[in-house]
Amino acid sequence: MCGIVGVVGKPARDIILNGLTNLEYRGYDSAGIYLNDLNGNEYLTKAVGRISNLKEKLTPDEQGLVGIGHTRWATHGKPTVDNAHPHFDETKRFYLVHNGVIENYAELKEKYLQGVKFHSNTDTEVVVQLISKIAREKNLDGFSAFKEALKLVKGSYAFLLVDDTEPEHVFIAKNKSPMMLGLGDGFNIIASDAISVLDQTKTFVDLQDGDVGDITKDSYTIETVDGKKVERKPHVLDIDPNAASKGTYEFYMLKEIDEQPSVMRKISQTYFDENDDVKVDPKIIDSISKADRIYIYAAGTSYHAGLVGKTMLEHYTGIPTEVGLASEAGYHFPMMSKNPFFIFLTQSGETADSRVVLKEVNKRNIPSLTITNVEGSTLSREADYTMLLEAGPEIAVASTKAYTAQIAVQAVLAKALGEALNKAEAKDWNLKHDLAIAAEGMQQLVDSKESLKEIADKYLIKSRNAFYIGRGIDYAVALEGALKLKEVSYIQTEGFAAAELKHGTISLIEKDTPVIALINDPATADLTRGNIQEVVSRGANVVTIAGKDFAREGDNVVLPEINYYMSALLTVVPAQLLAYYASKDKGLDVDKPRNLAKSVTVE
Ligand code: F6R
Repeated sequence: MCGIVGVVGKPARDIILNGLTNLEYRGYDSAGIYLNDLNGNEYLTKAVGRISNLKEKLTPDEQGLVGIGHTRWATHGKPTVDNAHPHFDETKRFYLVHNGVIENYAELKEKYLQGVKFHSNTDTEVVVQLISKIAREKNLDGFSAFKEALKLVKGSYAFLLVDDTEPEHVFIAKNKSPMMLGLGDGFNIIASDAISVLDQTKTFVDLQDGDVGDITKDSYTIETVDGKKVERKPHVLDIDPNAASKGTYEFYMLKEIDEQPSVMRKISQTYFDENDDVKVDPKIIDSISKADRIYIYAAGTSYHAGLVGKTMLEHYTGIPTEVGLASEAGYHFPMMSKNPFFIFLTQSGETADSRVVLKEVNKRNIPSLTITNVEGSTLSREADYTMLLEAGPEIAVASTKAYTAQIAVQAVLAKALGEALNKAEAKDWNLKHDLAIAAEGMQQLVDSKESLKEIADKYLIKSRNAFYIGRGIDYAVALEGALKLKEVSYIQTEGFAAAELKHGTISLIEKDTPVIALINDPATADLTRGNIQEVVSRGANVVTIAGKDFAREGDNVVLPEINYYMSALLTVVPAQLLAYYASKDKGLDVDKPRNLAKSVTVE
């Protein structure tokens, strides 16, 4: 959500524009750039919509050796040019970009900025006006005024500030919103996400909440708002920049769906040793073994992966497991068992809703594990332990390979924990084999993707609404299938426990309503067939996705055989492909659905 890129000491324009383009996946609705050529010329350009609109507005002479750029996902004020960042103060001395939300902006405006002329409706402009006011009134240099202002500001932020009286510096501050510093030879870069600038450097400094910094082309100093120096050591990030490129694919979403078999193999390599024994940090296993209850917290797709994880954890470890929506728990904390253990599932590791729960967990000294795709992300740093998804960068806003990776890594955890607890189910479980079966099955499914395109074209693209139904683990996948379809195709879709439809929602079924039925649960497969008949009699167009053991003639997709607890890994693939083709064949921007952001850093 919002992307920021700043450059000091190198022609900045293209680095910023490329960096912002690489951050497009985070979601945005306007973009802007400030450039200073260190020769007395400065340029501010902003545009609504895509970065291509911003590029069109920039003239060739608008260049700079220092620059800050931003993609904005509107929170305060509509997506307009005036509300786009960078924002400036009334004297046009300071330029600021911001990712986050200033909670006390109205109060700051009222208390300190009476009579100041504002040009936007944003919370960010309040901060840049405040910095300017403090600098003028207290006769302070830009960095000192910035720090004074930060003492008054409450909320989440990653700020980049340029003071045009000393334009060879970019001043930065971070609280709750992600920001990294990239170090180069004779230049430095600041960005929301390392992926955006990997073509420039692989050496990064992870900034922490409360960090304030002064960045020049060949130096960086990090301190607290009170001026106490802090040491932040650089590290080299081992990511292949090509992993984040689309290659020959038209959209990242399809590339990422297709990558799932190799993600399964990578997880298998990472979490099994040469004797085929499961390999998880013993400290994690030791800590969870003491728990009498596991609490999984997450949002959106990750929450759906948690619902699948719960069934595996309970079956293979015997530890009761609850799954909750992070956004609900942050301010209504669940009642705790005596020895709780918290697991946070988060692709990005930055989701603000999950972070609120983790803060409370830390306050209560409850042990925690973050399962994430992003090493060094905020939730990873703030939890006691981390397990990585090993899925490679996921760029499409709609999560696909991170979802299946979350299920696979929870399976690894369930196996290791169950073995440590001496559970026969876990000891007898050949998970490595099951992961190989999953990879093979996924490959078969992605290889026959054309059949899903036909189904999407025939049943979905003309529909306004649709349903996914299933029982047991299939219900969890129904929720995910529905989310995937609605978020990228804008077809309103609900995921339902198959038997629940008749308790009210069946009234929405009419002629040609698409109902996608998932059938893998040995305990309820026949009952789900009954529920299918109920909607068929009311005119629904039913698409059946059934496990090999439960398949009947006429089923649309027959899934390769797999352990029931792992079945979500296969069932979800046709659901992902249906969503992809419904979106693409409606002519939509599959990777960047409207109003959505990849990394949701506001509550
Ligand atoms: C949907 C999707 C979102 C995320 C959610 C949580 O396709 O990706 O629902 O799952 O915003 O994000 P993370 O997993 O980064 O915490």
